[in-house]
Amino acid sequence: MEIIPLGPGFAAELRGVQMAEVVAQPALYQAVRAAFEEHSVLVLRDQRYTDQDQVAFSACFGPLERTKVASLGEGTHFSILTNVDLANGGKGLVPPGHRETLTARANQLWHTDSSFKQIPALASMLSARTLPSHGGETEFASTRLAWARLDPAQRAQFEGAYAWHDYAHSRGKIDPSLATSVEQTALPPVRWRMAWRNPANGKTALYVASHAFAIDGMDKAAAQALLARLIEAATKPELTYLHRWRPGDAVMWDNRAILHRGRPWPDDQPRHMVRTTISATDADGLDFVRPAVAAA
Ligand code: OGA
Ligand code: MN
Repeated sequence: MEIIPLGPGFAAELRGVQMAEVVAQPALYQAVRAAFEEHSVLVLRDQRYTDQDQVAFSACFGPLERTKVASLGEGTHFSILTNVDLANGGKGLVPPGHRETLTARANQLWHTDSSFKQIPALASMLSARTLPSHGGETEFASTRLAWARLDPAQRAQFEGAYAWHDYAHSRGKIDPSLATSVEQTALPPVRWRMAWRNPANGKTALYVASHAFAIDGMDKAAAQALLARLIEAATKPELTYLHRWRPGDAVMWDNRAILHRGRPWPDDQPRHMVRTTISATDADGLDFVRPAVAAA
């Protein structure tokens, strides 16, 4: 396996490796895991795999999430991100105002996966199944590098601060009815420390996202302005890695240390992606971000 750096200080391609080989060879998994801890975004090209290979590869990293209520793939290990009209047997595309179209737009806000869940995500693994002729890239920014650029007073501030995350908040930025009442009931707001220390290497990352809507002890408008400034500073174009998808690509990222967003593509072209998501555990530093005292 060759490791080829791709982005501005993070992201790397793992060359010469197939998902199934990683599953079969514990020493190879250890090398992939080390690359994940170090580079935060791993690109695997020219993959030959089944859904089961993607699940097995992902499961090496930890417990798999089940896809949340009212989403394509609900209850399974797969999140389906698509504008293909699956309800119509996969014939044609969903119309512009469709829930999946709005969901794709919400994914175009800078975010980290599952920060709104009771157990946030360690990592996501996204595979390309059908791609548009252009557009539809996925863009990544390192909040570990963003953390390193903060001054010591800011680091001390955010290490002691807790932000609230709510799925309905990020969805509401696109359409107030996008998060249904069923989803809102299933996904009440949660709060996490604004800094996530990686126990494997001691490196800290800023933990904020489109889902964050409030900070404990801070006026709500001021908190939202601060969150927006932090996300903007972390995601300046020269700081990002833009992944241009090719057939056979799969990309894994570290949700503790990465913000990502989808990019638009032509409305009349299909794009179909399949994600598996790995839950964080205390071994991944979840105990560090979890508030010491339960929320009132
Ligand atoms: C995701 C996501 C963006 C994209 O899979 O979590 O945000 O480019 N995807 O599809
Ligand atoms: Mn996402």
